Amino acid sequence: MKKVFVLLLAPLQIAVASEANYDEAKVPDYVLPEIMTFESGEQVESIDDWKQRRSELLALFSAHVYGEVPKLAEETRLQSRVTREVAGFLDGKAVLKEVDLTFPEESGGPAIQMLVISPSGGGGAPAFLGYNFRGNHTIHSDPRITLSEAWMRPDKEGRVVGNRSMEKSRGTSANRWPVEKIIDRGFALVVMYYGDIDPDFDDGFENGVHRVFGQPEEAQWGSIGAWAWGLRRALDYLEEEDGVDAARVAVFGHSRLGKTSLWAGAQDERFALVISNNSGCGGAALSRRAFGETVKRINTNFPHWFNDRFPSYDDDLDALPVDQHQLIALMAPRPVYVASATEDEWADPRGEFLAAKLGSEAWALYGKRGLEAGKMPPPNQSIGDSVGYHLREGKHDVTDFDWECYLDFAERHLQ
Ligand code: GCU
Repeated sequence: MKKVFVLLLAPLQIAVASEANYDEAKVPDYVLPEIMTFESGEQVESIDDWKQRRSELLALFSAHVYGEVPKLAEETRLQSRVTREVAGFLDGKAVLKEVDLTFPEESGGPAIQMLVISPSGGGGAPAFLGYNFRGNHTIHSDPRITLSEAWMRPDKEGRVVGNRSMEKSRGTSANRWPVEKIIDRGFALVVMYYGDIDPDFDDGFENGVHRVFGQPEEAQWGSIGAWAWGLRRALDYLEEEDGVDAARVAVFGHSRLGKTSLWAGAQDERFALVISNNSGCGGAALSRRAFGETVKRINTNFPHWFNDRFPSYDDDLDALPVDQHQLIALMAPRPVYVASATEDEWADPRGEFLAAKLGSEAWALYGKRGLEAGKMPPPNQSIGDSVGYHLREGKHDVTDFDWECYLDFAERHLQ
């Protein structure tokens, strides 16, 4: 069904592309849905009220944006098996483990490879958990990390890199994963390859975890929902892992995987801290601003990311019952960090800032301070208390500066 949708719209995409707005003066007038008002019109007045409103909002995001998780998936727990353990990783500073998360064989589910790098000396460390885009072996060049054999996204020239015949792809994403610095600061790092959970293309949901849980119905999950589910199953495993303190796990993601970390953090309050790096439309950016990437554009180009109801708001954002400041609010009272980049206009830095700022209302209820700044900070300045924010100079990426901010923030809140 979805495939047909893309094919029919393909000729229109060029027209849609040329319409992307980057002019602040052309942002449409909009009224955001309230965080602290129930659908019934009643006001949230206490923390108990907020817990109910939180459930209401979560259900709205499930039903209209990311998709409901099938009941069977909610009930499923994966099996885990440590397949490799290297005690003297990083010159003895860290322990590296590879762990397979698997479904029962008869289900036909994918095997998910997790890489757990924790500080030597035992004792559960606080950790960052996140997906990578090209396989666990790309985050560090150590040859002991197993090369992924899973589906890989083609690069800009259309070449698929990262399979077993491509030893040279080892460490090619290392600039986004300062493993040693993370360990030196006393944190563990846990990564998985997102393609293990659900290959990122519109195949009518025939592979990945969708194969196990069946064709999604209209309101059910797409790929972002499935990836978020995978992060939650990783956290199940971390509850058993000696090197990590599962009560102090920060879930992190960049871009589409930042949309994913936000959705995982919203659904699962076991995540102690949530980080969105340049997540943009469908992530931290307000949808109603329609600045840079719009809801229509994202649903057209990536029809498999959200549920099949989300596109019904493409041309009528006023009717969308939620907006992304409410997603940020769902993290409260846990700390959340939103980061933008100056040259990442496609992701609407101002829309990301505003969602973080407006979402902060939920922390006030707990007597906590979120993001109180009246206007966007100058580039390369980290601000905020329980809700952190920065606008990094540069393009859509994850850099050392971003990590410095996340490490400081996590140290403040988790150590
Ligand atoms: C595209 C997409 C964004 C997404 C990004 C990414 O640019 O339009 O929504 O965040 O890819 O994941 O790299």
